[in-house]
Amino acid sequence: MDGINQKTYAAFSVVQHYAQLKLLQPAEEKILELFRDRWSSMKMLDLGVGGGRTTQHFAPVVAEYVGIDYSAEMVAACQKRFAASPDLRLEVGDARDLSRFEDNSFDFILFSFNGIDFVSHSDRLKVFQEIRRVGKPGGYFFFSSHNLQGLEREFDLRKHLSLNPITTYVNLVMFTILRLINRSFTLEQLKASSHVIVSDESHNFRLKTYYIRPEAQIQQLAPNFSEVKVYSWKTGLQITREDELRSNSDMWLYYLCVIQ
Ligand SMILES: C[S@@+](CC[C@H](N)C(=O)[O-])C[C@H]1O[C@@H](n2cnc3c(N)ncnc32)[C@H](O)[C@@H]1O
Repeated sequence: MDGINQKTYAAFSVVQHYAQLKLLQPAEEKILELFRDRWSSMKMLDLGVGGGRTTQHFAPVVAEYVGIDYSAEMVAACQKRFAASPDLRLEVGDARDLSRFEDNSFDFILFSFNGIDFVSHSDRLKVFQEIRRVGKPGGYFFFSSHNLQGLEREFDLRKHLSLNPITTYVNLVMFTILRLINRSFTLEQLKASSHVIVSDESHNFRLKTYYIRPEAQIQQLAPNFSEVKVYSWKTGLQITREDELRSNSDMWLYYLCVIQ
C-alpha cells in the first residue's frame, strides 16, 4: 500500500489540492483554542504537513515549528507557500523513521487530516512508537484517523437512498464503484473487523486507507499514550460517552493523547 499512497501524494493535482487548503477543521480549531495559553512555550512537530494548511495556523503561535512530509512534492509546495518565512523548518521526512530527531524533543505532535492512515498496520504501530520517543513525556499527540463505523455506513446500500432521485443516483454510482473496487469486503466482514484497509473515494480511489473502530484505536494507543480524548472532526465536540463513541459514524475522528 505504501508505494501506491506515496505516489498519489506526489501527483501534481493532489499536491495542488492540499496547497490551496486554508481552513482548520472544527476539532483542530478546538485544540488551537484549548492550548492558547501554552503554544508560545511549545515546540511542535507537524507530521504529514502536506501543502501547509495547518502550518499557517500553528507556526505563528508556537515557540518552534517543524513540518515534515514523505512527499518531496508536497514539501516543495509548502516551502513555496511559506517562502516569506525562511526560518520555518519544512523538510522531507517519513513519520516511520524520525531518527533525525532526538528523544524527548517535542511538546506537541500533530498528524492531521488522517495522514497516519496511509501506512500499513505494522508501520502505524511503529509511527506511534516513534512519536512517543521524540515527544516529551507529558506532551501531546493530536491526530485524526478514519472511522470504520463511518465506512460501514458507506457500505450499506440503504443509507444511500434519498427522496431526491438525483442524489440517490449519484450516491448509487459512488456506492457501486466503492463496492466493486473493494469487492473482497462485505458489510458483514467490516462489522466483524476492528480495522481494515480499503480504497475509498478520496482522490478517485487512488489511495489505500486504514479505517479503525474508535474503541480499537483507543486500545492501540494504550502502550504509548494515556488520557485519550476523542473529538468529532465536524463539530469539534468531545465524545465522552461510550455508547456515543460506539454509534458514531463520522468518516474520521480526532484523538488527543498525552505522551507517556
Ligand atoms: C490527507 S494529507 C493531509 C495534508 C495536511 N496535513 C493537511 O491537513 O492538509 C496526508 C499527508 O500525509 C503525508 N503522509 C502520509 N504518510 C506519511 C508518512 N509516513 N510520513 C510523512 N508524511 C506522510 C502525505 O504525503 C500527505 O501530504
